[in-house]
Amino acid sequence: MDLQTYAEQHEADVPEAPMLASLREEHRHIATVLALLSDHLNAIERSELVNTHVIYEIMDYMVTWPDRFHHPREDLIYAYAADVDRGLAEDRRQLQNDHDAIAREGKALLQVIEDWRAGEANGTTLVEQGRAYVQHHYKHMSMEEQQVFPAIDAVLTRADWRELVADDQLQPVGDPVFGRRVQREFRNMARKLRRSLRRGVERQAVAEWVSMESMFEAYEVLSMALQSSRTVTRDQLMTSLRETVYITLDSPLRSPFLCAANNARLTLEWAEELRNIYRDASVDLVRVDRERRDRLRLLKRADRP
Ligand SMILES: [Fe+2]
Ligand SMILES: [Fe+2]
Repeated sequence: MDLQTYAEQHEADVPEAPMLASLREEHRHIATVLALLSDHLNAIERSELVNTHVIYEIMDYMVTWPDRFHHPREDLIYAYAADVDRGLAEDRRQLQNDHDAIAREGKALLQVIEDWRAGEANGTTLVEQGRAYVQHHYKHMSMEEQQVFPAIDAVLTRADWRELVADDQLQPVGDPVFGRRVQREFRNMARKLRRSLRRGVERQAVAEWVSMESMFEAYEVLSMALQSSRTVTRDQLMTSLRETVYITLDSPLRSPFLCAANNARLTLEWAEELRNIYRDASVDLVRVDRERRDRLRLLKRADRP
């Protein structure tokens, strides 16, 4: 099964509990990373030159994030659901065993990658073991999405979900690659991911990257505008205060009128400066949005056969 087939089979078209929707979303990210791993395994098989560190980062990510955060959260949900409906107990047992097996296989594969990088394991072993790992993961996620999530969704009530949502252990943990910021140890992989996604491995995931990048840029534009307006406002208040003191010392009798006129002038200047700051910011925001749309259009075009 490749990523395309996986994505077609698992398009979420049924509204379901947000917690399950977020697990599906995490599956999409995992599937994208597995697709990148498959690309690299294919390249190794063809004896092409590959960035060995990227392969290491991919597996380091798999054992760092899905094994430590995604699967344990699922285990808690499955356990809760199996307590509500004993009919789910067998699925729970099978999936929890599978999580343990996937974690063991992930660690073993990481070791093979380290050995291969050190010249102590051959590429064929890595390709075979890597492909088995990818297939196992796809099969596991397929079972969850096709059988288990719908069953859990049918069994748990809103009150059950409220209880689960309140559980601290079930709070989503920021993904070090697809989350708000890419962690340093996964940067090479993240860059490769973006590049290979750009080649059309999964357009939707790219769209997400593009939108996220645009969102961050827009945030930067706005926070810079806010910072500038704060500075302008502070400077203007200081100027107003200083000039009020000078005017009062110079002409104490006329100072109320002079100060009022001076403050009105300063206020107009301040308003003009703020207007310029926010006009520039809105021009930048329009540019960010235009670039985002251009990039999405290019991606769509690149995706066509
Ligand atoms: Fe799972
Ligand atoms: Fe899962």
